[in-house]
Amino acid sequence: MSELGDYYRERAQEYDAVYDKPERQEDLARLRALLPPLVAGRSVLEIAAGTGYWTKALATTARSIVATDLNDETLAVARTRSYGAADVRFQTADAYDLGAVQGRFDAIFAGFFWSHVLRADVRRFAQGLLERVEPGGVVILADNRYVEGSNYPITRTTDAGDTYQTRQLSDGRTFEVLKNFPSQDEVASAVAPARVEWTELTYFWLATIS
Ligand SMILES: C[S@@+](CC[C@H](N)C(=O)[O-])C[C@H]1O[C@@H](n2cnc3c(N)ncnc32)[C@H](O)[C@@H]1O
Repeated sequence: MSELGDYYRERAQEYDAVYDKPERQEDLARLRALLPPLVAGRSVLEIAAGTGYWTKALATTARSIVATDLNDETLAVARTRSYGAADVRFQTADAYDLGAVQGRFDAIFAGFFWSHVLRADVRRFAQGLLERVEPGGVVILADNRYVEGSNYPITRTTDAGDTYQTRQLSDGRTFEVLKNFPSQDEVASAVAPARVEWTELTYFWLATIS
């Protein structure tokens, strides 16, 4: 597994602390409110679902959700949440190999994963999502904006422009994690010729692509 995969597997039990950051609460509430109308009545494929924080918001209106992640350890946490009456299933899957997931989906959601895709790979990743969604469907992306003091500082930038952070788990182990902060134009260019609707909050961005 990649260092990114290892990091999130080891972080699974403490991942949700990121959702307790006080300064982000207002934006988190806005994002939790913006997402459900976008997937209302739709069959959703969720990429890199992690511990299911956003799955829970999507489940309030979606017809069904197949929530996938590379790590069964994060999905194990996701399985402990309650999703009301929604049809929510979990499956391990690699975001770069979505052919392994069975089903037809008229919405795809990838939360806080684009930032972990190398700049050289974003077009391939984005086009993979667009190819997987049914005609008339929607691809929804959400991710972080860089805000000094709220995000981990950037500790390395490669010649290709990829940025990395050094992150520490509660037991002291450190990991170097790829974390890019794309602009609206960069996302638009990776998904072209599809159209992007872009919403910018203080800490997050939301892109709806169709
Ligand atoms: C920043 S977390 C986002 C989790 C969740 N979407 C959220 O916003 O709370 C990134 C997730 O990507 C998963 N991941 C890492 N590499 C992956 C890959 N190649 N395919 C699918 N998931 C992957 C990790 O296990 C982790 O759960």
